[in-house]
Amino acid sequence: MALSALGLDPWSPLGLLCSHLFLLLSLPPAVGADGQGPVPRVKYHSGDSRRALSFYQKGLQDFDTLLLSDDGNTLYVGARETILALNIQDPGVPRLRSTIPWPASERKKNDCAFKKKSNETQCLNFIRVLVSFNATHLYSCGTYAFSPACTFIELQDSNLVPIMEDRVLEGKGQSPFDPAHKNTAVLVDGMLYSGTMNNFLGSEPILMRTLGSQPVLKTDTFLRWLHPDASFVAAIPSTQFVYFFFEETASEFDFFEKLHTSRVARVCQNDVGGEKLLQKKWTTFLKAQLLCAQPGQLPFNVIRHAVLLPSEGPSGARIYAAFTSQWQVGGTRSSAVCVFSLANIERVFKGKFKEMNKESSRWTTYRGPETSPRPGSCSVGPSSDKALTFMKDHFLMDEQVVGTALLVKSGVEYTRLAVETARGLDGSSHLVMYLGTSAGSLHKAVVARDRGAHLVEEIQLSPEPEPVRSLLLAPTQGAVFAGFSGAVWKVPRANCSVYESCVDCVLARDPHCAWDPESGTCRLLSGPAQSSWRQDAERGNPEWACTRGLMGRSPRRQSPPQLIKEVLAVPSSILELPCPHLSALASYHWSHGKAAVPEASSAIYNGSLLLLPRDGVGGLYQCVATENGYSYPVVSYWVDTQDRSLALDPELAGIPRQRVQVPLTRVGGGAALAAQRSYWPHFLVVTVLLALVLSGALIYLLASPLGALWARSKVQSCDTLPPVEKAPLSREQCLQPPKNQRTSESDVNADNRHLGTEVA
Ligand SMILES: *[C@@H]1O[C@H](CO)[C@@H](O)[C@H](O)[C@H]1NC(C)=O
Ligand SMILES: *[C@@H]1O[C@H](CO)[C@@H](O)[C@H](O)[C@H]1NC(C)=O
Ligand SMILES: *[C@@H]1O[C@H](CO)[C@@H](O)[C@H](O)[C@H]1NC(C)=O
Ligand SMILES: *[C@@H]1O[C@H](CO)[C@@H](O)[C@H](O)[C@H]1NC(C)=O
Repeated sequence: MALSALGLDPWSPLGLLCSHLFLLLSLPPAVGADGQGPVPRVKYHSGDSRRALSFYQKGLQDFDTLLLSDDGNTLYVGARETILALNIQDPGVPRLRSTIPWPASERKKNDCAFKKKSNETQCLNFIRVLVSFNATHLYSCGTYAFSPACTFIELQDSNLVPIMEDRVLEGKGQSPFDPAHKNTAVLVDGMLYSGTMNNFLGSEPILMRTLGSQPVLKTDTFLRWLHPDASFVAAIPSTQFVYFFFEETASEFDFFEKLHTSRVARVCQNDVGGEKLLQKKWTTFLKAQLLCAQPGQLPFNVIRHAVLLPSEGPSGARIYAAFTSQWQVGGTRSSAVCVFSLANIERVFKGKFKEMNKESSRWTTYRGPETSPRPGSCSVGPSSDKALTFMKDHFLMDEQVVGTALLVKSGVEYTRLAVETARGLDGSSHLVMYLGTSAGSLHKAVVARDRGAHLVEEIQLSPEPEPVRSLLLAPTQGAVFAGFSGAVWKVPRANCSVYESCVDCVLARDPHCAWDPESGTCRLLSGPAQSSWRQDAERGNPEWACTRGLMGRSPRRQSPPQLIKEVLAVPSSILELPCPHLSALASYHWSHGKAAVPEASSAIYNGSLLLLPRDGVGGLYQCVATENGYSYPVVSYWVDTQDRSLALDPELAGIPRQRVQVPLTRVGGGAALAAQRSYWPHFLVVTVLLALVLSGALIYLLASPLGALWARSKVQSCDTLPPVEKAPLSREQCLQPPKNQRTSESDVNADNRHLGTEVA
């Protein structure tokens, strides 16, 4: 749907109306013409220890808040009724350093239960604010059984000192009442700026400043600076201001019942409140609409999180924010990450104001005279009554802050993000985003300068789908930490050793990884790199990075195999040659020598090549992946027929060989072998059925001593293989345990672990 094609700005009243109408008519997905957005190249399942490690302990849950110590070696965690200090200095699983309980008092729990809240899921203390107050104290707030409370927590050598109940302070306006509500807080110069719900019912949002020597300041509820459903997701300080990022129902588009909109609000750090007017209230509160959209598409109007990337060079500081759409299209939501420059946000706050026309109750651009100093600017000295009167009604900016979409993806809800820049081997800087999803996974996205974002990997963290509660990058540890209901997960920036070849290492386009030809490994780029290392994070071209200087002048269309797996064809058995799908972005096909695989005696079943032993069936079989315009063999098999072993092709001389066992399916008699080509599908079904029956029989047989004997005589196991030529480059000594059938789920899972990566 191209609103722009109709000459409509999607956010103009008419544009919105059209959007609404289109919605009713079931829309195409709110993502670009390329459909779903980037696909993660590699996926890791929950429990795969190659990419993530978890900390959990019985009795601990709801790891909602994460805070890094100043030295970066301790992770403080706010969990349900508990605060933890984890030692994250060592590689490996975080270790518990100390833990202190902070339950809500019995009296508050009883009051809460009396007010019809659940004593099991709500009338507890959920820790929602955890900041480093000074060198010796943390400051923390929790929901405290629907009666927010805060406290200072003393530290001794990064260990937590237990909290005295008489040191617990009232925390209204700093933590929400309801654990289901979002909130945000940031400490600047000893003052806490918080955005949360300020009442039991959850109908009164507030932006507040507490602690420190300056007066406590709040937003004015009566003046409706915030819509009653405002939900805060981030607070980011700059030199003069504190910016708050939140979502609320838009009141300026009054013809819609419930149109969500994303906002940035701003207050001055030197605000002291008014004297007669706006006493103990902000005198500098302003807000503006944030727009994250692609041209001609419905906007991503619900902000979920925002983070600051400090200025690097001339571009200035930038804010990265994750958005989802209010509207579900085809049962799934879509997400976008937009970038906003701080300079642009500041420009909008220097522009025109909106005001409510009292007669028509509609928002229009304010065209009256400007006063000086400009309302909302951080001018020193008390503001005049006139300026404050103006501020009461002119808090919404006329212009919207328009972001640039870096990543748009459907079927995913990004709820949290962390960003950093990574310096590639050539010194260029790459933006890396870690995106937590509502289904408990983490996407590592890399934004290439002019090729958009690509997803290096998807790591499923929580075993059950649940939103990431908190996400924190620990730069000195080189890891991202993610809090969930049941565990805190540690995800190192990269595990380059999962890429076992130069081609895979380069195609991953991970700026953290480079190929070291000397050791033949894919290595993490940290500290000084050797000039011989290879990387092409920008284009991911293995031909350039992996064959340069190694293969002479004429580049080959396809790289030679690194290892040849020799398998023996057994008469009356279907050979299954597996092919690990390392990348979801590659397409795979099989080749036989220089020709295509003979169709009359083979079939491809779920990526594996099924081969019927026949005359002329022997020879080289390669599973070839094509990715990013480059083809390479993922796995190469040499099939020896029993009666005559073929001499290896001279072209393949010098390539290491290894004898392996592959799954076999025995076929009774010669009848099946005579099956005609046209009967293939039928034949296959029969074979699969036969296989199922056989597996049942085999399990039965294996269960008996006789069966065991029989099995030993029939099936060679990997460890009883005759000594074979060892392959120096191989990390897969035994590709797959021999098995006659693939039936059970656990079998398949075992395969996946063994084969490395798996494809969506
Ligand atoms: C919650 O209250 C119910 C009944 O009032 C009681 O049976 C239950 O044990 C309480 N649960 C907890 C965790 O206190
Ligand atoms: C840190 O703050 C706490 C609480 O206000 C105070 O008791 C303590 O003395 C402060 N420590 C330092 C080193 O300023
Ligand atoms: C990286 O992956 C390898 C397997 O490819 C595994 O042995 C290793 O433990 C992983 N490293 C980390 C830090 O998780
Ligand atoms: C195909 O293979 C993948 C992994 O190799 C496995 O997860 C999937 O279950 C297989 N599908 C069938 C129909 O066997």
